[in-house]
Amino acid sequence: MIFDHDVVVVGAGLAGMRAALEAARSGADVAVVSKVHPVRSHSNAAQGGINAAIGEGDSWESHAFDTVKGADYLADQDAVEVMCEEAPTDVIEFEHMGVIFYRDAEGKLGTRAFGGASQARTYFVGDITGQALLMTLYDQILKAGVKVYEEWFGTALFVEDGACRGMVALDSLTGELHLLRAKAVIDAAGGCGRLYEPSTNALICTGDGYALAYRAGAALMDMEMVQYHPTTLAGSGFLMTEAARGEGAFLLDKNGGRFMKKYAPNKMELASRDVVSRAEATEIAQGNGIDGNVLLDLRHLGRDVILKKLPQIHEVALDYIGIDMVEKPVPVRPGMHYMMGGVKTDVNGVTTLPGLYAAGEVACVSVHGGNRLGANSLLDTIVFGRRSGKHAAQYVKNVTPTTGGESLLRAEQERLRALLARPYKGETHARVRLDLATMMDRNVGIYRDEAGLQSALRGIGELRARYESVWVGDKSRVFNQALQFVLELGYLLDIGEAVVRSALLRTESRGAQSRTDYPERNDTEWLKHILLTYTPGSEPAVSYVPVTITRWKPEVRTY
Ligand code: FUM
Repeated sequence: MIFDHDVVVVGAGLAGMRAALEAARSGADVAVVSKVHPVRSHSNAAQGGINAAIGEGDSWESHAFDTVKGADYLADQDAVEVMCEEAPTDVIEFEHMGVIFYRDAEGKLGTRAFGGASQARTYFVGDITGQALLMTLYDQILKAGVKVYEEWFGTALFVEDGACRGMVALDSLTGELHLLRAKAVIDAAGGCGRLYEPSTNALICTGDGYALAYRAGAALMDMEMVQYHPTTLAGSGFLMTEAARGEGAFLLDKNGGRFMKKYAPNKMELASRDVVSRAEATEIAQGNGIDGNVLLDLRHLGRDVILKKLPQIHEVALDYIGIDMVEKPVPVRPGMHYMMGGVKTDVNGVTTLPGLYAAGEVACVSVHGGNRLGANSLLDTIVFGRRSGKHAAQYVKNVTPTTGGESLLRAEQERLRALLARPYKGETHARVRLDLATMMDRNVGIYRDEAGLQSALRGIGELRARYESVWVGDKSRVFNQALQFVLELGYLLDIGEAVVRSALLRTESRGAQSRTDYPERNDTEWLKHILLTYTPGSEPAVSYVPVTITRWKPEVRTY
């Protein structure tokens, strides 16, 4: 079938729903396409909070400086200024919409400290802040009359005369492909954590939005910047929120020593994430960990604080590894958590492909540069989700509806039919994805070098060849998860290649990119963003744009 809307939003996490709400408020006819029910989107997993300089004695300039420093000076400072200046209004709006943020003993909005921040400016709802925001926003989009195509999976963007005019999506319930035509598309499909193993990300984080945009012609920027979160649970990789350290938890080596004093004597456990993750990786490599982990010690916080402010991680540690963090330290290790890079946009979500906007983790505005500060991602989603929705609603006023797209729908139907028709022999998608994800962790993780990256590039070529023989284990139509997994794996291979190529190009160490063969930051040559543009049948085209510096000249970065 064919459906027509003014604006189609891909993804129903915080960025997608905030964009949809704003576009609807601005008068556009808006639809959201989401591969899961909206409240199961991965924003649901965000734990620790959202940053805004609201408190007395704080300022958006201080928040912006911390963000720029945290980013190792790769963030565009004009964009950071927009985000930090607009943060207080956006956060307070969520409270007015119904989010019950933590309040202190005086009844005022209460904060907690987070890494890399010079002030405690993180607002929170226990350790389920993302969930609280997501539920509230879902109510709001329903109230605003936004149409939700739920459990629909995007297979291709529709580009006509050089502009994005919609998408093709698979309705999981029926197995039918549909054409959604639009005057503008907002890509808010979230991150690509499953490119790595382990990862804090949900199984749904398969880079769909990066690959859809990239294949359609939009440029990807700074894809080498992959964040490892310092505290993920031993074994499973579940997130143990930074809020634990914000509330005062220690990181300990096998002898009970607070090793962060060697790496960040001023901020200790609350240095920025790239610094803490590198410190842990170094300690573990030097044999100072325990079974490949270090320890997160919350015991001195006491039962009341743990149960009141960190109940979810308390329960997860108990359920998954049988440790009560009130009594014992929890083994943790760095794990892949977030992509700073993504679809290049300006501060209104405008990408390099006319008619296509991007917001949230899939986008690179760039406000996070080489390393994102904890609790700036929820902020990014709501500020740039709102701005994208508003801009798109204006843009569509001057766009006439299209009647095209049916040939793309037919081509996609044929592509999926051929995939389903593959015989039951060859590779399983699960094996290929696991090989990809473990290789990315091994060769394109916290520390990288030329040899490892070249090996990863060759590895991706080999995995692509194996992908050609991956079969779909389920031939039925209704909720065919196997088919979706195979399509997702194709997206991950494209994104993995973009990450590796960008990491090879950046011959310096900055933020999350730690090249052991180029250990220094090199501002003379590398104060610039790397852009990749998809070129069917050959290597991506590479280009560069300078970092926008407004008021903070790059300095030596210490914590
Ligand atoms: O640790 C956390 O709660 C994660 C927050 C974030 O990535 O912003």
